[in-house]
Amino acid sequence: MAILVTGSAGFIGYHVCQRLLQRQEQVIGIDNLNDYYDVRLKQARLEQIQTYSNFQFYHSDITNRANLQTIVERHSNINRIVHLAAQAGVRYSLINPYVYAETNVLGHLTLLELCRKLPIQHLVYASSSSVYGANHKLPFSVQDPVEQPISLYAATKRSCELMSYTYSHLFKIPITGLRFFTVYGPWGRPDMSAFIFTKSILKDEKIPVFNHGDMRRNFTYVDDIVQGIIACLDRFSDKNQKINNLRSLAEETTVPHRLYNIGNNRSESLMDFIQTLEKIIGKKAKIHFEPMQPGDVKETIADISESTRDFEFLPKTNIEEGLKHFVTWYRSFYGI
Ligand SMILES: NC(=O)c1ccc[n+]([C@@H]2O[C@H](COP(=O)([O-])OP(=O)(O)OC[C@H]3O[C@@H](n4cnc5c(N)ncnc54)[C@H](O)[C@@H]3O)[C@@H](O)[C@H]2O)c1
Repeated sequence: MAILVTGSAGFIGYHVCQRLLQRQEQVIGIDNLNDYYDVRLKQARLEQIQTYSNFQFYHSDITNRANLQTIVERHSNINRIVHLAAQAGVRYSLINPYVYAETNVLGHLTLLELCRKLPIQHLVYASSSSVYGANHKLPFSVQDPVEQPISLYAATKRSCELMSYTYSHLFKIPITGLRFFTVYGPWGRPDMSAFIFTKSILKDEKIPVFNHGDMRRNFTYVDDIVQGIIACLDRFSDKNQKINNLRSLAEETTVPHRLYNIGNNRSESLMDFIQTLEKIIGKKAKIHFEPMQPGDVKETIADISESTRDFEFLPKTNIEEGLKHFVTWYRSFYGI
């Protein structure tokens, strides 16, 4: 059997593929290698996973239905999908809104249509903590109302959740949406805080700190997120003799669509995050305080009780350890 991973050259996709390949799964990766950020970083990640003989890569856009059809015909043993390809980033959705609708909405629909035609046992897709918008109730729970997204990115991620519910209801496809909370770690995204801060400290450049530093995040180390994604994907695997066929489970359940938060259960202040980086790098940051950015939220805290209960998700890595791994990777990758 094979697992299709979309966004396989992306930050989280690369790590998911690594982990699946190490446990000898056959992995089919798709990515359009777009230039939202440095394509060389995407290619370098890809080079690492292309060393595995059980990995096959397709340079394709997920909205290209004909390409997707060819891929699944060629790999008729695909039975699970980890769908991570997306236009990420809250701030960029103010600049290039159409790409969010194309990739996140149309792309997600393309994947759902694929699942409708194939005997897919489980589709796990990435949603985001941004769907909680400006909710005041903390921690954020999957039971909370999320009908007021404050960025287009969040609105498209919420659309993915709604469309998934519909497909799951209509066609009994087992689908799980995971709301990720600020992921960081080696091979990370250049538009995210760990990367921007490390780069600026090392180059003696000013760090833009929004909302005058008054922000808190559930910074989550990438290995913990990957462990959660794969545990969720496996939840009804062959290990559980009673329910090794998700389709039959789906018939018993009215709508086999579930949503979970996966994020750190500890929230850190942005200023503590920067001070930890300063300590690790051994240099002071040049901080430039700026007002809150439109679409951004002040604080995120994940209620992970349901993901802990259902697939034993429990993040282990604290920010000191996680940031050390990140800085070590950054320095070696960029030779600084
Ligand atoms: N990193 C985080 O903190 C975070 C937080 C919440 C949600 N997420 C979600 O997790 C997923 C992975 O995020 P990431 O941080 O790895 O981002 P990323 O940008 O590094 O990875 C996404 C990958 O998808 C590819 N892609 C984009 N559009 C595509 C298309 N139309 N067709 C094919 N490939 C396409 C990109 O080239 C990229 O390699 C995304 O769905 C993102 O929205 C991430």
